[in-house]
Amino acid sequence: MRIGILGSGHIGRTLAALWVWAGHEVALSNTRGPDTLREVVEDLGERAHAMTAADAAAFGDVVVLAVPFIRYRDLPVEQLASKIVIDTSNYYPDRDGHFDELDSGESTSSEVIAAALPGARVVKAINTMYWERLRAAGQPHGSHGRLAIPIAGDDAEAKSVVSQLLDEIGFDPVDTGSLRDGGRRQQPGSAIYNVPLTRAGIEQRLDAASKGS
Ligand SMILES: NC(=O)c1ccc[n+]([C@@H]2O[C@H](COP(=O)([O-])OP(=O)(O)OC[C@H]3O[C@@H](n4cnc5c(N)ncnc54)[C@H](OP(=O)(O)O)[C@@H]3O)[C@@H](O)[C@H]2O)c1
Repeated sequence: MRIGILGSGHIGRTLAALWVWAGHEVALSNTRGPDTLREVVEDLGERAHAMTAADAAAFGDVVVLAVPFIRYRDLPVEQLASKIVIDTSNYYPDRDGHFDELDSGESTSSEVIAAALPGARVVKAINTMYWERLRAAGQPHGSHGRLAIPIAGDDAEAKSVVSQLLDEIGFDPVDTGSLRDGGRRQQPGSAIYNVPLTRAGIEQRLDAASKGS
């Protein structure tokens, strides 16, 4: 599969390496241009490519947003229409500025992004896992104690593709629901945010949270 990654910081680089090692073609991008990523992609080998953000978005069958939430305003909207888009971002008001609809809980950050990307098939995933854990904690399918990653979205086929991609890099996917309700269940402050959990652990915590305990 072709995977475009917007953002080449902690999360973008980590995912680029994991998916290259899993056999995919990966295009990595940032704000400063492909020349600043030459060494990174050389280290990753011939399946890794450095591109502009617009070209990486056009390249990917799946495109990953690995940028600070507020940067959703600068995304290549046309190139992302119809793409499966993995939103790894989290809303942090101290970093991103305040959004009334997010502070009130009326909406979620992935819904704000989805609204800005007409036609994109947005799946919220990977936002709960610290990048060092993502880099190092993956285990083969079926391993005892394998960690899980929650995913949320409104497009069942897109979620299935993302689930497969997570499985390939060592994690069990857990469907938390729609972009709105599932997204809320896995955002900062939720019971499953930034905690190393297996699939059963996530399911238990979601169940407890839904019962208000
Ligand atoms: N760090 C974590 O452990 C972690 C875990 C889960 C989720 N997250 C979320 O994942 C997102 C990325 O976090 P991070 O820690 O990887 O951030 P980071 O290390 O600060 O990297 C951010 C990257 O985004 C790039 N960027 C900004 N605007 C862009 C645009 N419009 N197009 C393309 N690239 C753009 C930056 O480019 P330049 O390099 O040119 O500045 C930089 O490479 C955040 O929303 C964060 O909340 C982070």
